[in-house]
Amino acid sequence: MKESRKKELKMKARKICDGVQWMGFVDWNRRLFDSLIPLPDGTSYNAYLVRGAEKTALVDAVDPAVTDALLGQLADAGRVDFVIAQHAEQDHSGAIPAVLAMHPQAVVLCTPKAKPLLMDHLDIPEARIRTVADGEELALGGKTLRFVHTPWVHWPETMCTWLAEDRILFSCDFFGSHLATTDLYAGDNPAVCEAAKRYYAEIMMPFRAVIRENVKKVRALQPRLIAPSHGPVFDRPECILSAYEDWISDRVSNLVVIPYISMHGSTEAMVRHLVSALAERGVKVQAFDLSVADIGKLAMALVDAATVVIGTPTVHVGPHPSVFSATHLANALRPKLKFAAVIGSYGWGTKAVEQISALIPNLKVEVLGALMCKGRPREDTFAALDALADTIRDKHAGLGG
Ligand code: FEO
Repeated sequence: MKESRKKELKMKARKICDGVQWMGFVDWNRRLFDSLIPLPDGTSYNAYLVRGAEKTALVDAVDPAVTDALLGQLADAGRVDFVIAQHAEQDHSGAIPAVLAMHPQAVVLCTPKAKPLLMDHLDIPEARIRTVADGEELALGGKTLRFVHTPWVHWPETMCTWLAEDRILFSCDFFGSHLATTDLYAGDNPAVCEAAKRYYAEIMMPFRAVIRENVKKVRALQPRLIAPSHGPVFDRPECILSAYEDWISDRVSNLVVIPYISMHGSTEAMVRHLVSALAERGVKVQAFDLSVADIGKLAMALVDAATVVIGTPTVHVGPHPSVFSATHLANALRPKLKFAAVIGSYGWGTKAVEQISALIPNLKVEVLGALMCKGRPREDTFAALDALADTIRDKHAGLGG
């Protein structure tokens, strides 16, 4: 390990309130998650130590790459009796085996669905795992933890943990944000909500319907603090709760998202014309050139958009591979889009529209048209794009911004 990395790992635990400490690691330098998701602002892996008069629990751990940071913080913290694994994905659970080695008496607490995942992914012995039911409580002595099962945020096994005396909800990925900062609390910093929206778009959006029930559960608790395992703690939870309620609602905005790519300029010319035509008609547009676009920003735009227009040139009869990839991703994210169209170009023949259509079975959209231009776009193509803009304007009538 590089010397600079060792120094970076020495961040100290921070007090949240009596008996509750933040632990973990702020990762300023990570730029990619899952070898897929851009992290323009880094991230953090938050763990929380809850110390009662009789027992102590660690809520979540950290990514295995920064295990030493957590072990260094725990070295000064005394005995740990319970490790609460709210989510089995390795960026939170990866350091659990090392914590268990450090505390041979500690027991892992998790949902029944998390138990086999922890055994499969981390080789944690079955004897060291105890499952907890939804609503079950754990008394630590003056600190009472209640387990709140919240499936599909964003794996099937996820849960939150409620610290009753201090009204703190530990929420793991739920309400999280990929944001490296020394701010322990979000306050009213809009950058945190923006980062949380990006995070929601990238991993939570496919499970919007189930998340509604989970948000209701959290609302009913009336938390004072929401402490996720990525990004700052929400000390004004209304902000993130109302943002989530908006994102998971059925409301769409008067917004067209245009992911596209161009090889020789024809598709680009069509996209530019359509953007202008839509703007003239009072329709908002976000266009993403997929050769340079941040796919996280594309995902964020899809949270609210009513319409997607996919722009592609033709490569070997089908869509450009970058468009193929982005379309596959959009289908997986299951945004609440209502309308779709395909535009683009080809040299001598194309089946791009048919292939794109086959890629989006999850999108329950009304198809507003397909317009593939042979060679350079000319007046008839631009007229057809104006007609498409008219249709979109009419379909968006009554939608808010
Ligand atoms: Fe932050 Fe799903 O792990």
